[in-house]
Amino acid sequence: MRPWHLWLGFIPFTQAQATVGGIPAPPGVAFLYNANITVGLTVDVGAIPAGNISVIPVIGGALTGPKISGKILAIGADWGLSTPQGFYYSDMRAQIRTMDNANIYVQMTGLMQGNNGVVYVRTTFQTGHKDYWWLNYAFTFGTMRASGTGYVVDMWYLTA
Ligand SMILES: *[C@@H]1O[C@H](CO)[C@@H](O)[C@H](O)[C@H]1NC(C)=O
Ligand SMILES: *[C@@H]1O[C@H](CO)[C@@H](O)[C@H](O)[C@H]1NC(C)=O
Repeated sequence: MRPWHLWLGFIPFTQAQATVGGIPAPPGVAFLYNANITVGLTVDVGAIPAGNISVIPVIGGALTGPKISGKILAIGADWGLSTPQGFYYSDMRAQIRTMDNANIYVQMTGLMQGNNGVVYVRTTFQTGHKDYWWLNYAFTFGTMRASGTGYVVDMWYLTA
């Protein structure tokens, strides 16, 4: 096998990384969507060696943003882990169906420290739909907060 760093010579970099005050310029960030996720009754798995697992079913919802809008199907859940150190690890699987009928599989993971109510999340998307193909390699991040009937999620993505 050729060492990986030798392959770098073939990557067609066309621009030097811009710098600000001698440090790399931060990447651009754009708003992806706001989502309201409705949840069902929690299923308590109980204490495992790492903490307590609670399964919070996803039973519906909606999302809207500049490039994507649709509904959240009643498929999936958040397999949340509460640890003795006071962390909450979110591990959600869900399905989006866009207004124009693209099906997008969503995997969201995140972490809440203590009880400020904000889970910082990352999401990966998988879809074969050509209009949303870019989501397969979008680098996204956001926040998830509890609301009356579920969660409110705000997501952003890096543009460069
Ligand atoms: C989420 O709920 C809030 C508050 O009711 C509402 O303002 C917002 O439009 C909703 N977002 C979506 C995507 O439905
Ligand atoms: C796990 O659940 C038990 C029973 O409800 C509770 O006593 C314990 O504090 C919980 N532990 C964590 C880490 O949340």
